[in-house]
Amino acid sequence: MKIIMLGAPGAGKGTQAIRISEKYGLPHISTGDIFRHNIKNGTELGKKARSYMDQGLLVPDELTCDLVVDRISREDCADGYILDGFPRTIPQAKALTEALEKMGTQIDYAIDVDVPDEDIVSRMSGRRACPGCGATYHIQFAPPVKENVCDVCGEALIVREDDKPETVQKRLDVYHAQTQPLIDYYKEKGVMFAIDGTKKMDEVFEDITAILGD
Ligand code: AP5
Repeated sequence: MKIIMLGAPGAGKGTQAIRISEKYGLPHISTGDIFRHNIKNGTELGKKARSYMDQGLLVPDELTCDLVVDRISREDCADGYILDGFPRTIPQAKALTEALEKMGTQIDYAIDVDVPDEDIVSRMSGRRACPGCGATYHIQFAPPVKENVCDVCGEALIVREDDKPETVQKRLDVYHAQTQPLIDYYKEKGVMFAIDGTKKMDEVFEDITAILGD
């Protein structure tokens, strides 16, 4: 099963992708996580990506496409995967389609987690992230057991640099201009499924599994 998660920044793609990954035993591939990992480790890719991410802009396609195509060509992706945050532009989607065609395969499900901009702004202000293991929390909707401490690895939680209010608006503008057109792209391919992302996390997951099956 090859799945793409679409939706605005903060719509809950990552939250649901982790649950899908656990239920169906598929690798969860988040380009945002890959870039953040590279930033943390001070790699060349990380240095380049950071200058875009901190401004709420997309990392250029040429730094992104090969990285994802390389990742999905690995053995653990043979039975499928969940792409979270990729593709994000029409050129990325076309590059993915082309690469998959060469492998003799295609995307099975594009799931759009739909949340209005007003809700996104409040979700982002409450998100807390673990700089150690990447786990995500929300101070109201998914709090850690101990305030501000990661349940998984015990590190102190932070507000992501790009979750500051001024950057969130920029990310939403970029989403509407560059990523939303992918909904029509995957509709035309007959694999587009829209989910109401304003529901509770468990309900959103139920709606997704109703589409993916048992
Ligand atoms: P990335 O990390 O992919 O960020 P994003 O798409 O902006 O998505 P987020 O991680 O912010 O949110 P999410 O939808 O996963 O929501 P989450 O589950 O955390 O990318 C970051 C940056 O990297 C980009 O801006 C760009 O610069 C770069 N980048 C990445 N991929 C790229 C690409 N392909 N091309 C170019 N550049 C790229 O949930 C959000 C919060 O809400 C959490 O606190 C969560 O607990 C809470 N929550 C989730 N679901 C619910 C619910 N149902 N009800 C209440 N709260 C909820």
